[in-house]
Amino acid sequence: MPELQRLRPDHAPALFTFEQENRAFFAASIPDRGDAYFADFDARHTALLTEQAAGLCHFHVLVDTDGEILGRFNLVDVADDSADLGFRMAEKTTRRGLATATVLHLCTLAATEYGLTTLRAAAALDNTASRTVLTRTGFVPTGEEVQLSGRPGLGYIRLTSSEA
Ligand SMILES: CC(C)(COP(=O)(O)OP(=O)(O)OC[C@H]1O[C@@H](n2cnc3c(N)ncnc32)[C@H](O)[C@@H]1OP(=O)(O)O)[C@@H](O)C(=O)NCCC(=O)NCCS
Repeated sequence: MPELQRLRPDHAPALFTFEQENRAFFAASIPDRGDAYFADFDARHTALLTEQAAGLCHFHVLVDTDGEILGRFNLVDVADDSADLGFRMAEKTTRRGLATATVLHLCTLAATEYGLTTLRAAAALDNTASRTVLTRTGFVPTGEEVQLSGRPGLGYIRLTSSEA
């Protein structure tokens, strides 16, 4: 069974491979990270871990039994007991319910480990997979229309105590 792990320094090589192998898949739904992301990957990884140590965010990776990273699930902009959720899965492991199950697990962790009461998310209107995951895990649209790199989207919210 894949395991959700809090991001660590030694995840860097597997995370680089995950981002590189799935770059085109991600770019079809969400903005591409750009070449600089890959060129400066190690420095960025260190910076993310520094932010995490300061309590500003909680990064997680879904790791297969052989150490391969299958997904990443992040809580960022932690403030006032709330945070923003973002996630992405390796293309080859999509449509198996893994993102849905992992978001549910992360909602529990958010409440029990991180003391968060409210999670926010956003998805482009045409990102059916993301919107499906959000609604199946108890997120509800806020009614707020957001722009995601120029694409219309919806804001979502979930109380961590909510049942999906
Ligand atoms: C969004 C994402 C994480 C979903 O991962 P996943 O593991 O496939 O999610 P799940 O299997 O738990 O559920 C997704 C649901 O959407 C459906 N789905 C997936 N891709 C779809 C598509 N292109 N069109 C319609 N439905 C789709 C799945 O079939 C599944 O529903 P089902 O159980 O009825 O079959 C993954 O597609 C991804 O990483 N996309 C690129 C990055 C991204 O968009 N991240 C979200 C940013 S807001």
